[in-house]
Amino acid sequence: MTTQLSLLLTGVGGQLGRRVADHLLRDSAGASVIGTSRTPQRLGDLARRGLQLRHADFDEPGGLAAAFEGADRLLLISTGAANAGPRRVAQHRAALHACAQAGVRHVAYTSFLDADTSPLTALAADHAATEALLAQGSTGFTVLRHAFYMEMLLSTLPAAIASGRLLSASGQADVAYVTRSDCAIADAAALRDGFDGRRRLDITGPSALTSAQLVERVNTVLGTAIVHVDATRADLEAHFTAGGMPPAMARLLSAIDEGLGQGAMARRSDDFEALCGRRACDVDEFLRLHRDALMAR
Ligand SMILES: NC(=O)c1ccc[n+]([C@@H]2O[C@H](COP(=O)([O-])OP(=O)(O)OC[C@H]3O[C@@H](n4cnc5c(N)ncnc54)[C@H](OP(=O)(O)O)[C@@H]3O)[C@@H](O)[C@H]2O)c1
Repeated sequence: MTTQLSLLLTGVGGQLGRRVADHLLRDSAGASVIGTSRTPQRLGDLARRGLQLRHADFDEPGGLAAAFEGADRLLLISTGAANAGPRRVAQHRAALHACAQAGVRHVAYTSFLDADTSPLTALAADHAATEALLAQGSTGFTVLRHAFYMEMLLSTLPAAIASGRLLSASGQADVAYVTRSDCAIADAAALRDGFDGRRRLDITGPSALTSAQLVERVNTVLGTAIVHVDATRADLEAHFTAGGMPPAMARLLSAIDEGLGQGAMARRSDDFEALCGRRACDVDEFLRLHRDALMAR
C-alpha cells in the first residue's frame, strides 16, 4: 500500500501563504495539504476547500514538532519584517529544529534575492542567517530567493501618476520585479515537484528595468505623462514625507530605493520559467491588470 504524500505550508494566513494554499488546493498532484497559522480559526474558507489546518506559532517552539507531524515536504514562509532581527532568526531556527524532529524530508524556504550579499542588509540579513541554518542541517532544501514584489508599485505609482513626477534614488540600476502571485506559484511548485536534493532558485520577473524605463512603460501602457526625476535618498524621503507618508515608511522606502541603486534587485533569472513551465508576469501585464487601482487618485 502506498501512503499519500503530505505537503505542509506555514503562515497560511498571510498574503503569500493564502496564495500558495490556493495553488496547492487546485493542484497538489494527489498529495494531502496541511496549512499552519497562528490563527487557523480565521481560515474556515480554506478548510472548506480541503486544507487541513493546524495551529503553529514560531514564538511557541514547544508545539511546533507536533504541528509538523506527518509532513513529508514543508514550505517555511519567512515571518514578516515586523519580526526582523534576532527574533525572526530565532523563529526560523525553531521551525527548522521542529522540521528535523518531525522527520520532514524537504524544506522549502522563502528567502530574498542575493540574501548573503545584498546591500539591503536590513531586509536580507535574517534570510542569509536562515539559509546558513539550512546549509548546516542535514535535510534537503529549496531556497526560493524572491525578488522585489511588483505589488510595491501599487504603493508608489499612484502618487507619481497623480503628481506627474516619479522621483527615484535607484539611478541606472535594473530591478527585476516579480509579482507576489508568481512567487506563490513558484513556492507551490517547489513544494510538490518531488526534488529531494539541495537547490537555490532566484525567483524574479522576466525582465529588469531601470526606474526611467519603468516610467516609460507606465506612460506607454497607462497613457500617462509622468516625468522621471533622479533624486538622492534624502530628497526622496523628504518627497514621501511631504506627500503625507508616515516618516518611518518614508525612511524605509527611500533606503530601499537607494539599495536598489546599488544593484540589490538587478539579477534576472530564468529559474521561475524552468520551475513552473511558463513565463512570469511582466511589468506591462501587471500595469494592465491593476490599471484601475493605479489610476484611482
Ligand atoms: N521580496 C519582497 O519584496 C518581499 C515583500 C514583502 C514580504 N516579503 C517576505 O515574504 C514573506 C511573506 O510576505 P507576505 O506578503 O505574505 O506578508 P504578510 O501577509 O505580512 O505575512 C506574514 C507571514 O508571517 C507569518 N508569521 C508571522 N509571525 C509568525 C509566527 N510567530 N509564527 C509563524 N508564522 C508567523 C504569518 O503567518 P500567520 O499569520 O498565518 O500565522 C504570515 O504568513 C514575508 O514574511 C517576507 O519575509 C518579501
